[in-house]
Amino acid sequence: MKETRILLTGANGQIGTALTKALRNIHGKENVIATDITEPKQENYPFDFIDILNKTRLREYVGDYKVTQIYHLAAILSANGEVNPRKTWEVNLNGLLSILDCAKDFELDKIFFPSTIAVYGRSTPRQFTPQHTSLEPETVYGMSKLSGELWCNYYYKRYGIDVRSLRYPGIIGYDSIPSGGTTDYAVEMFHAAIADQPYECFLKEDTFLPMMYMPDAIEATIKMMESPKEKIKIRSSYNLSAMSFSPAQLKNQILNYYPNLKVSYKPDFRQDIASSWSESIDDTRAQQDWGWKSKFDIHKMTIDMIENLKSEK
Ligand SMILES: NC(=O)c1ccc[n+]([C@@H]2O[C@H](COP(=O)([O-])OP(=O)(O)OC[C@H]3O[C@@H](n4cnc5c(N)ncnc54)[C@H](O)[C@@H]3O)[C@@H](O)[C@H]2O)c1
Repeated sequence: MKETRILLTGANGQIGTALTKALRNIHGKENVIATDITEPKQENYPFDFIDILNKTRLREYVGDYKVTQIYHLAAILSANGEVNPRKTWEVNLNGLLSILDCAKDFELDKIFFPSTIAVYGRSTPRQFTPQHTSLEPETVYGMSKLSGELWCNYYYKRYGIDVRSLRYPGIIGYDSIPSGGTTDYAVEMFHAAIADQPYECFLKEDTFLPMMYMPDAIEATIKMMESPKEKIKIRSSYNLSAMSFSPAQLKNQILNYYPNLKVSYKPDFRQDIASSWSESIDDTRAQQDWGWKSKFDIHKMTIDMIENLKSEK
């Protein structure tokens, strides 16, 4: 039997930092290689620089290190994506196509591709958004991820590549500060509360968005990736859900622990992006097909976030 050797792209990001740790706990440090175009902010051995646009280096690396699985996290996120749309398309879509080609040519066992709630658009039902629905995203990020989902399905059907994908909601975690996304306000509000600083939120107070606590996101990812192949019936991307809340509701939760927190609201261009996304998600198929169930609601997440951020201070 081949030894499992996992490569993560975009491993220094918000999700990559937590996912690398979790995968190393399961498969051993040496078998999980973190890569990114930025320097790791914390100890991250084994690490190497790989730009996802450098197809030659990626292929050499996959061959030389006998990689068997890739978790392809490298991407430019929703808000940053609008700064340079063509570059975002190139990184997010051409990067994925290079990964899918590697999977085909090197006969890799499995690929993970994170999709997003940004694939939904204004024509999508906003409440309890179904798995199969109208998808007309308005950001280049959403367009690139939706096309990515379709390419994943194509490589599965045409070449039998075992590629699996989740549509992550906005992810909230304490390991690193997110940047460039439309749901970043939630993590920023926690940091402001703990630093005893006022917080200016870039979304309106009543903007509801689907959110998920990082431990749930990591558990969902690993649970889906470790499920038997025949249980994965959706090969574009699974809807995934945990909670839905607005900035005002999050503020009220945090006020229970930091009663002096002051939040003001100054919506910017990210409000328009958020307004085009769903408010809540129906993830019945993920529950039925591979047994997904979230553990954290807004209340449990708030307690855990504060405990962890305080201990890091
Ligand atoms: N964080 C969320 O709320 C969220 C929600 C839905 C989907 N996702 C998806 O999950 C994945 C990880 O998200 P994240 O929050 O950790 O993002 P992030 O921005 O924190 O991390 C992305 C990483 O990709 C790297 N990167 C960018 N361009 C690259 C390139 N050309 N080559 C190699 N690496 C490159 C960046 O340096 C960064 O470390 C992304 O694909 C994102 O679209 C995230």
